[in-house]
Amino acid sequence: MEKVLELISKEVGDAFEAAGYDRELGRVTISNRPDLCEYQCNGAMAGAKKYGKAPFIIADDVAARLQDNSMFDKVESVKPGFLNITVSGDFARGYIVKMLHEKHFGVDRPAHEPTYIIDYGGPNVAKSLHVGHLRSAVIGESIKRILKYTGNKVIGDAHLGDWGLQMGLVITELEVRKPDLCYFDPNYEGPYPKEAPFTVEELGEIYPAASAKSKEDEAFKAKAMDATKKLQDGYKPYRALWHHIMNVSLADLKKNYKNLNVNFDLWKGESDADPVIPGMVEYMKSHGYAHESQGALVVDVAEETDTKEVPPCMILKSDGASLYNTTDLATIKQRMDDNHPEGIIYVVDKRQELYFTQVFRCARKTKLVMPETELHFVGFGTMNGKDGKPFKTRAGGVMPLGDLIAEIDDKMYNRIKEGNPEMPEDEAKDTSHKIALSALKYGDLSNQPSKDYIFDIEKFTSFEGDTGPYILYTMVRIKSILKKYEAEGGNVKEALLANPDSPAMKELMLQLTRFADAIEGAAKDFAPNRICAYIYDLSNAFNSFYHGTKILAEADPDKKSSYIALLATTLKVLETGIDLLGFDAPERM
Ligand code: ARG
Repeated sequence: MEKVLELISKEVGDAFEAAGYDRELGRVTISNRPDLCEYQCNGAMAGAKKYGKAPFIIADDVAARLQDNSMFDKVESVKPGFLNITVSGDFARGYIVKMLHEKHFGVDRPAHEPTYIIDYGGPNVAKSLHVGHLRSAVIGESIKRILKYTGNKVIGDAHLGDWGLQMGLVITELEVRKPDLCYFDPNYEGPYPKEAPFTVEELGEIYPAASAKSKEDEAFKAKAMDATKKLQDGYKPYRALWHHIMNVSLADLKKNYKNLNVNFDLWKGESDADPVIPGMVEYMKSHGYAHESQGALVVDVAEETDTKEVPPCMILKSDGASLYNTTDLATIKQRMDDNHPEGIIYVVDKRQELYFTQVFRCARKTKLVMPETELHFVGFGTMNGKDGKPFKTRAGGVMPLGDLIAEIDDKMYNRIKEGNPEMPEDEAKDTSHKIALSALKYGDLSNQPSKDYIFDIEKFTSFEGDTGPYILYTMVRIKSILKKYEAEGGNVKEALLANPDSPAMKELMLQLTRFADAIEGAAKDFAPNRICAYIYDLSNAFNSFYHGTKILAEADPDKKSSYIALLATTLKVLETGIDLLGFDAPERM
C-alpha cells in the first residue's frame, strides 16, 4: 500500500509538473515545525537554481494548483519558497480505514518470501547466561520479529558456543575435582553413565574457576588445549562428558530464554559445524585459497583499499585444532547448503566487527556464499552501569541474567501490589513480569543498537517518559475504556471512525497513518529503535487526545463511536509494535 508520504509527494509532484517543473521536486517530508504545518516541501528552493527563478514564484505557482485538492486543508507558500502543507481530516481518516483493511496495516511485503537466518543470542555453553548476552538476545529477537512481519521467512539460530577451549577447560577442571570418574580412566571402555556427574550450579562454578586457573597456570592451560583437541578429534570419554555438559547447560539456557520471551527456531552450535570442517579445509587448500603460515592454515583477506590492517583469517591452528573462525565459516557453508538463505544477519558485540570482516571476506573469496548473498553484521554496544563502566553486580562481579530479571520482577511486583492490593497473586506475578520485560527490553531497544547505553533500572521502570512501562500504561488505559464501553452495551467492533474534530484527534490520526513507514524503516536498517520512537510518539499523541477529550461521557453517539474506533485502532497498532519489540501488555496495572 502506498504510504502517506508517497501519496502526498505524488500529488505535490503532479502540481510541480503541471507548472512546468521536474516532478521530483515535489518530495514531501514530515514537518519539523509542527506548530506551522504537518508536512513540508522544499522543492521550490532546489528548483530555483535549476530554473533560474525566485523560489517563491515556483512555490506560489505550485501552491495555487493545490488549493482545491481534497487531500489538503491548506497548502501555503511561505518566503523564501517553502510549501507548508496541512492534510485534510478526510484524507487521514480514509487512509486509516484503508490501512485497517490490510493484513499488515499497509506494510509492503515481497511477493516471494526471502529467507534470512539470524544468528543471535550466542550463549556459551557451560557458562551461565550473563547480562553480556542480553543485548544480543533482545535485539536479535526483535529484528527477527520485524523481518517476519515485513514478509520474510526468518530462521533464528542461537549458535551456541559449545566447541572451543571452554569445553577443554571444563573437562580439565572436572578431572582435577573428580579424578575417579570413569571418563578419566584410560582403561575404561564404557558404557558411560546416563546421569551427568555434576549439577548446573556446579557447572556454573567450574568454568570461571578453570578460566582463572588457565591464566596463571601454563601446564593447566596446555592440558585444557590438549583436551579440546581430543574432544574435537572424537575421543569417546570426552565426547560423552561433552554431551552431559550440553544437556545440563541447555536445559538451563532454555529456561532463561523462555523467561525473556526469546524463542529460537534452531538451537545449533559451533559443534554442529564440526563434521563440515575437514571437507571445507580440503576444498580451501585444493583451490589455492588457503596457505600455510607459521604452521597454521590461513586465508588472506586484506584488500588494497583497506585503511586499517585486516589480518589473514586463520582456518586451523598449528596443532590442527579448529577455532572460532573455522566453525563460523563451516556454519556458513552448512546454512547455505541446508537453507539457501538470501542473507545471514549476525547480532553480535561490536567489538567483534573486525573478526566478522575477516570471516565475511573469507566466505566470499572462497565462494562459500554466492556473490549476491547478503552478510550483515549488526554490532551492538556495551550495556554500562551508572558509572559508565560495563554493568556489574553491586559486589563488582558479572551479573547473571536470571538475577537481574528477578530483581526487576520484584520491583514491579511491589509496585503493582501497592497500586492494586486486591489483585490475585497469579495475576500480580504475571503482570509484574510483563512490565519488567517491557522495562528491560524497551530500555535496550530504544537505543540505536551500535550505541553503548546506561542501564538505569530507576529510569527504565518509570511509568512516565520514554519507557516500556509508559507504553504499557497507555495500552492498559485504552483497554480499560474499551471494556467500560462494552459494559455499557457498546460494541467496539461496530464503532465507526469519523473525521477528526480537534487538533489532538487529528494529530493522533496522523501518527496512526505513519505506522507502515516506521516498520519498513526499522526492517531496512535493522533498527528496532525506530519502532520504539514511533510507539512513543503514538502514545504521547494518544495521551494528549485522552486528556483533552470526554470519551465515555460524550453525548453525541456518532462522536463517541468515532472516539472508540480511534482507541481500538491505536491499541491494535501499539499491540503490534510491542510484539515486534518482543513483549506484551497486561490487562491492568
Ligand atoms: N559465543 C560468542 C560469544 O560469546 C558469540 C557468538 C556470535 N555468533 C557467531 N556466529 N560467532 O562471544
